[in-house]
Amino acid sequence: MVGSDRFEELISPDKVARRIKEMGAQITRDYADKELVLVGILKGSVFFMADLARNIDLPITMDFLGLSSYGDATRSSGVVRITQDLTNPIGGKHVLVVEDIVDSGLTLRFLKENFDSRQPASFKIATLLHKPTNSLETMKLDYVGFEVEDRFIVGYGLDFEQKYRNLPYVAVLKDQP
Ligand code: IMP
Ligand code: MG
Repeated sequence: MVGSDRFEELISPDKVARRIKEMGAQITRDYADKELVLVGILKGSVFFMADLARNIDLPITMDFLGLSSYGDATRSSGVVRITQDLTNPIGGKHVLVVEDIVDSGLTLRFLKENFDSRQPASFKIATLLHKPTNSLETMKLDYVGFEVEDRFIVGYGLDFEQKYRNLPYVAVLKDQP
């Protein structure tokens, strides 16, 4: 990409694909005979959601939830807003939330509380990336692709000021704190 000296590749497309294949196989085993709905958090999860779903060998359904927690800054505000709700009810369904990255955990805490009132049969979390150092919330993460250090990540769905989501690899944005 033009301006690519701003990025340092952290996880190659191949490595991402291999890990998602493993996660899909695990989820396939764990949810056999269950009615599973994948809920992708917009917009960061779109590529992960698409690849994970295709590696789950079950008749799943897919839905999306628009959440805004960061604005355009690089730090979590803890203030989370639903910008687009689910299209179908999740009551009685096994819900697997699909996230791009968990940092403080505040976004997922908000989501769990919101979803609890909708009474799903179960609630689990799959995240491509986890930054364990900033954790403010002790949310159980059921499926984690990769643990990453506390640097600002872009690519494969993750953005900086809405850009760089379409990088095919996971990268560090070099000139950020
Ligand atoms: P949390 O609420 O602090 O766990 O932040 C979660 C959300 O912040 C994720 O869904 C991302 O959208 C965003 N986020 C956290 N860390 C990064 C990063 O390094 N790059 C891009 N987005 C991030
Ligand atoms: Mg985001």
